[in-house]
Amino acid sequence: MSMEILSLLVGAGALLALVYVIRSLRALHQKVGRQTEKLSNGIQKINELTRNSSIQDYRQLEAYVQLHSLIKFSAPLPATRGWVGSPDLLLTLAQIVKTHKPKLTVELGSGVSTVVMAKAGARKIISFDGSSEFAEITRNLLKDHGARGVEVRFSKLSPYKKSSGWYDPNSFKDIKGIDLLVIDGPQGGDDPEARYPALEVLAGKLSSKSIIVLDDVKRAGERKLAEDFLKALPKHRLEILDHEKGTAVIRPK
Ligand SMILES: C[S@@+](CC[C@H](N)C(=O)[O-])C[C@H]1O[C@@H](n2cnc3c(N)ncnc32)[C@H](O)[C@@H]1O
Repeated sequence: MSMEILSLLVGAGALLALVYVIRSLRALHQKVGRQTEKLSNGIQKINELTRNSSIQDYRQLEAYVQLHSLIKFSAPLPATRGWVGSPDLLLTLAQIVKTHKPKLTVELGSGVSTVVMAKAGARKIISFDGSSEFAEITRNLLKDHGARGVEVRFSKLSPYKKSSGWYDPNSFKDIKGIDLLVIDGPQGGDDPEARYPALEVLAGKLSSKSIIVLDDVKRAGERKLAEDFLKALPKHRLEILDHEKGTAVIRPK
């Protein structure tokens, strides 16, 4: 092979190698670009979540401070996170009790909310709980706070209509003229229909000036229940409060 052909082949080989290196670098550059974009989207999402969560925490703290300036508690309150009503809901309940002065309050799902309403001045509260253990915890909490006029009624949960577990409807037989109905039980969560029987069992037991408060209306099932309550009460209006878990307040127009 002549020298010219050999150097031509070497040159062509070098050129091919160069093209290969350039293409590989370009592919690597594109890959790094995609990963960087993914990373920066992730960082943006985390920033958004952190910002929203600190706004939410601050709001709850504001509500908690206001709750303690509205009501003088004589014992500590359990932490208002998780299953317990959030401070924004508790503050709304305190304000409704103070301004509306309900003669009879019925609550589904007892706990800190029961103490708050009793200490805000609710005259008579019947609070239903599907757990005898949590009913007893609420009774003890009420005792610690020296709260009077409250009956915590244990009512066993069983499948009822489309709900996987609701209170025994017979345990509401003696109830009529509800001025304030608070729906924060049974637990719900996994079952969007869990709290739905409240409409059928309790709508006919409300006084004409009743107020209905529903917690957790950020969940579709609870939101539907609020809207269906409104349909059953054409002289009422519905307000959705942008609370941590979403609160619906249905009151006379
Ligand atoms: C949403 S909670 C009611 C909270 C109540 N309104 C309050 O403000 O504290 C509904 C039901 O969950 C049950 N419950 C309360 N705390 C619980 C816990 N830590 N684990 C499991 N169930 C709980 C009780 O039976 C209660 O009636």
